[in-house]
Formats: sequence, C-alpha cells, structure tokens
Amino acid sequence: MGAYQDIYNRWTTDPEAFWMEAAEAIDWSKKPTAALDDSTPPFYRWFADGEMNTCHNCVDRHVQAGRGDRTAIVYDSPVTDTRREITYAELQDEVARLAGAMKALGVEKGDRVIIYMPMIPDAAVAMLACARLGAIHSVVFGGFAANELAVRINDCQPKVILSASCGIEPNRVVAYKPLLDGAIALADCKPTACIIKQRAEKPADLTPGRDHDWDAVTAEAAPAACVPVGGADPLYILYTSGTTGKPKGVVRSNGGHAVALHWSMGNVYDIGQDDTFWAASDVGWVVGHSYIVYAPLLLGCTTILFEGKPVGTPDAGTFWRVISENNVKSFFTAPTAIRAVRQVDPKGAFIKKYDLSCLKLQFLAGERADPPTVEWTKEKLGVPVIDHWWQTETGWTVSGNPAGLELLDIPTGSAGVPMPGYDIRILDEGGEELPDGELGAICVKLPMPPSSLPTVWGADDRFEKSYLSAYPGYYETGDAGRRENGALYIMARTDDVINVAGHRLSTGGMEEVLAGHADVAECAVIGVADELKGQLPLGLLCLTKGVDRPHGEIVAECIARIRQEIGPVAAFKLCAVVDQLPKTRSGKILRGTMVSIADGTDWNMPATIDDPAVLDGIAAALGDLGYAKP
Ligand code: COA
Ligand code: AMP
Repeated sequence: MGAYQDIYNRWTTDPEAFWMEAAEAIDWSKKPTAALDDSTPPFYRWFADGEMNTCHNCVDRHVQAGRGDRTAIVYDSPVTDTRREITYAELQDEVARLAGAMKALGVEKGDRVIIYMPMIPDAAVAMLACARLGAIHSVVFGGFAANELAVRINDCQPKVILSASCGIEPNRVVAYKPLLDGAIALADCKPTACIIKQRAEKPADLTPGRDHDWDAVTAEAAPAACVPVGGADPLYILYTSGTTGKPKGVVRSNGGHAVALHWSMGNVYDIGQDDTFWAASDVGWVVGHSYIVYAPLLLGCTTILFEGKPVGTPDAGTFWRVISENNVKSFFTAPTAIRAVRQVDPKGAFIKKYDLSCLKLQFLAGERADPPTVEWTKEKLGVPVIDHWWQTETGWTVSGNPAGLELLDIPTGSAGVPMPGYDIRILDEGGEELPDGELGAICVKLPMPPSSLPTVWGADDRFEKSYLSAYPGYYETGDAGRRENGALYIMARTDDVINVAGHRLSTGGMEEVLAGHADVAECAVIGVADELKGQLPLGLLCLTKGVDRPHGEIVAECIARIRQEIGPVAAFKLCAVVDQLPKTRSGKILRGTMVSIADGTDWNMPATIDDPAVLDGIAAALGDLGYAKP
C-alpha cells in the first residue's frame, strides 16, 4: 500500500486518533482531550476543550525555539520596487506592538476587526495581531467597492478597522481612504477607531478623533501578550459569494485551522521548516489567508508576500524572478495567472532567463485548471504540476496530490484524490450515490474535517440552508463533478457563483445591482467562457416600458454601477439590452441555455421553454458582444 492510501485508511479507521496525533504539532496552553465534539449535529466543533493561540503558534513559538533570525516573510513588491525580509523575531515585535495599540483602543477577545489592506506585510501583521488578542479578523479584498465593505461592516460589526492609505494597481494608485470613509458613512454600524498605514505613494488625510496613524500608535504601544482562546473559538470571518448579493461570512475556528493547515504544509506541499513557500494570491482571499499567512508561519518556514501581477510588473518573468531569487521550493498560483503569462510569453523565454532549479512543485487552484494550461506549465517548468481543489469554506485542500506523502500518478484534468478528513460522494438530485464516471453534485459526508467552517457568522440557519439541507448528512460543496479510478474531476458550479480570474463572484449579486437601475425592468447575469480569466460576467437587460433613452447610455451606466457597488474586481464590462429573456413556462430564466449559446457549446432546446423565438434575440445580442460564435 502506498503512503497516501495508508494515511487515508488510518484516518478512515480512527479519525479521532488521526486528528489527535496531528494536533501534537501545535502548542496548546491546555491540551484538548478530544478532537471532535459531535454533541450538537449538524454543528461540529474541533478541539473544543483545548486552549491555544494561533499567533503564538505562528510567531512566538518559533522565536522561543531559537529560530528568531529565520526569515518569516519576504515582501517582494515590483510595483513599488521594494524588497524586505522580516525575521520571526521582527515579526513578533511588530505584531505584539500592533496588538498593543489595538488593545489600547479597547479591542478584546471576541471583538471583530476589519482589515481592508493592500498586499503589504502590515496586512499579515494585522491578521496576526488580531489572532494574538483573540479578536476575530475579517479581511476584505482591496478590489471591492465601498458598498461591499459597508455590507461586511454591518454584518460583523467591527470595533476597529485596520487599513492603508492606498493600494497599487499597475495602471493606477487606488486611494483606499475615500473607499473606507464611504463605507463607514454607508454602514449602520460605526467602528470606534481606524488605524491607517500611510504609504508614500498616496498618503491620506486622517479623520480626527477616529483615525490613528499606524506607525505612530505602534511606536508608542506596549507589546501585548498572546491571549489563550478555546480551540473552537473563531479566528476569522471571511466573506465569500453565494447565490445572493449578501455574502456569506465563513467562520474559521482557531484549533482545527491550525492543526489542518500545519498538516497540509508537509503532506500536501512537501514543505519543511527550512524551505521557502510561495502562494501568489492576495490576503483578501482564502488562499492568501491559508497559504501566504497562516500555514507557512504555523510551520515556521519562509513565505513570500508579493505585491504585483503575473504580467506587466514589469514583465512576464516576474514569477520566475521571485522563485529564483528566493529559492522557492513549492509555488502555488491560479491557472488564470499562468494563462496570463503564457499569453505574453508562449515560448517561455522568460523562464529560461532564471535558474529555477530550486522549484520542485507547481500547485494550481482557485478555478478549473484547463489541461492546455497544465500541459504548458509542465513542459516549460519541467516539474510536476498539481491541480488541487478546495474552497473558502474548507480553508485547505479537499482533493489534490499529496506530494509530501507520495506523488500519485493523477491524470491531467483531474483535481486529484481526497485528503484525509474528506469522505467525498457524488450524488444525484435525489441524494443517491452515482457510479464512477457519472456527473453529479460533489458532497462530503459529515462531519467536515478540522478547519472547515463550523457555521456562517451570525446565521446558523443560513449555514444549514446553504450547505446541509439539500443532502441530509452531507455538506454540499456547490461544485459538480465526477470520479474516475478514485480521481476527482471538478467540472462546474451548481449555483449562481462564477469564477473570474480565480475570484469567486455571485451573478445573483450582480443582478441585484443591475435591477436597482431605474430603467431596468428585468435582467440576467451569466458567466461566459473567457480564454484568460476562465469566465467573465455578461449582463442582459430588459428595459422598463416607455424608456426611450439610447441603449448605449443605459449599458454604460449599468457597467459603472457594478464597478461602483461591487468593485473593479467584478470585471463587468459585457452588457447588452434585449427585448426579452428566455424563460420556462413557469417563469424561470434559462441562464444555462444562454451560457451554452454564448460559449458555442452543444445545447438542446429546453422542453419547458415558453417562447423559443426569444433565443434569436439573445443570440444576436451575444453575437454583438463577440460571443455566440458557431
Ligand atoms: N485593489 C483595487 N483594484 C483591484 C485589486 C485590488 N486589490 N485587484 C484587482 N483590482 C482591479 C484591477 O485593477 C482591474 O481593474 P480595471 O478594470 O481598472 O483594469 C480589475 O480589478 C480586475 O482585476 P483582475 O481580475 O485582477 O484583472 P487584471 O486584468 O488586472 O489581471 C490577471 C488579470 C489574470 C493577471 C489577474 O487577475 C491575476 O493575477 N489573477 C490571479 C488571481 C489569484 O491569484 N486569485 C487567487 C485565487 S488562488
Ligand atoms: P473560493 O472559495 O474563492 O476559493 O472558490 C472556490 C471555488 O473555486 C470552488 O468551489 C470551485 O468552484 C472553484 N475551484 C477552486 N479550485 C478548483 C480546482 N482546482 N478545480 C476546479 N474548480 C476549482
């Protein structure tokens, strides 16, 4: 039996013993006596009677172990031409001071703190400082607009907000302060204080009485100690897109998160304490939480925090430069980033310019890894390319190739095999298990493993309704796929979520924004295939009777509206006016049929369609936008 099968069987045979053993890698101020608390199904808690502190495990314990001089974070920022190495000892000092500054502002265990920051090391410091106090952070991605930030402020009610004066996109400096001020003005809940990191590229005016200068307050602050928290106490809330415009606050608990993430660094990513690991994502997404900040630091290795893009900062060789300069052993990015590089540098000329002998493994996740991208990467880098599948809700790999245990022979196109903790079943609509090869809803038998969400913030009912109600006894992942010879193939979402450049977005949320335009009577947003970004949102509008303004004007207003309300990250640029939307006789909009027409894939006329002629108008509109090609 191979090492993977052996480990998976050990978990299946005795999950409690498996996770208790994994928990030994973590420092507990009070050791848990049990791994799983299943006394209140379908709610499960991990390591609930243990006590620990995630920041201690990420920072202090490495310093105490004599590894304070080891580099914890390399900040590499081609957009500001900066490179900075931060040792574990320096990180401890910065984190303890920021925690001290927050404590002086009244932040205590259990309080929420929003972090709205660009990719600077202070963002990681902010997360760890919250963890140090037992406060619950909620990081909001910088590409979201003020309104999205306001929604999150209202939902989690932060005592304090940590932000920066600006972020840097290749084509512009994004002033964060006006967005922050706008969000606070919009929100019903007002934070008592904001701490603002001033950046030289665009300093901000601070609001007297509310805003504090980051450097000033941390310079004065008394370092704060780590506060022990319960294993099942929340570490953070990360909002993610669901079916509606109201994002779901995915809760992550301290103990299970630390145990699962630590386990994954060695077994999934094959990383040891003396290695350098790089996840090229953003701290605003789950990949950034888990694999830029927490998992590498829990292990005590070196992590890279990269402020730039795969191309244009300054060229398509940036990834390879960073890998080569920092001795990166395992590199993790989204397929869309590789597609961006490949588009500019199809022959991989930049790859040849750098010594990449340090690189042993290339990981992909965040969206479906299309086989041509995987094959190109394999050929050009000459290392195994591993597609692994997971989601905000789980915080770590559901299925993949456990390179630290053994590298399995997984076919290109598959997202690998289940990790221990996940008992994956492919179910039909009636909840029956499907045989190998058949497409169905991918579900995980309860309980979900450590790190998976115990609930949705402040909404146990929504947690049950969104994830647990369709298939009793199972967690519904929202993805459809099939299994062949033990390997999983992830094919599509089963809900209204689309994946744009590795970013998860809600078409339902966009429809809500479009429907708010006075001239729009009805609308649909669909995700159409895009060579670079995987999918792009495309809006179709039916206008209110009697509106006779030029369509171009209304379309432009709708595009601006989504940018304004959701943010530039929605990448909403495709929109058209149509006479009617195709519907079933019961009035359901046939979004799937429109997607097939747009993408030029095979489709059958739905038997339930009310008026097939409506599809001609849709095809014409899609054609004008450059889609629906034969
Ligand atoms: N703050 C403010 N604006 C942001 C932002 C941020 N943090 N991140 C993105 N934006 C803006 C961009 O500037 C762009 O604005 P524009 O419409 O004015 O050009 C818009 O949001 C869309 O951004 P993006 O989808 O990133 O497109 P892009 O064309 O700038 O870059 C890629 C395309 C493929 C290079 C880029 O999307 C990428 O690197 N993707 C990988 C994503 C990833 O790692 N995801 C994590 C999951 S593993
Ligand atoms: P997020 O929560 O933003 O990380 O997005 C999670 C979703 O992205 C999953 O539910 C999938 O739909 C998609 N996804 C992530 N990784 C993969 C992968 N390796 N293959 C296919 N889809 C993926």
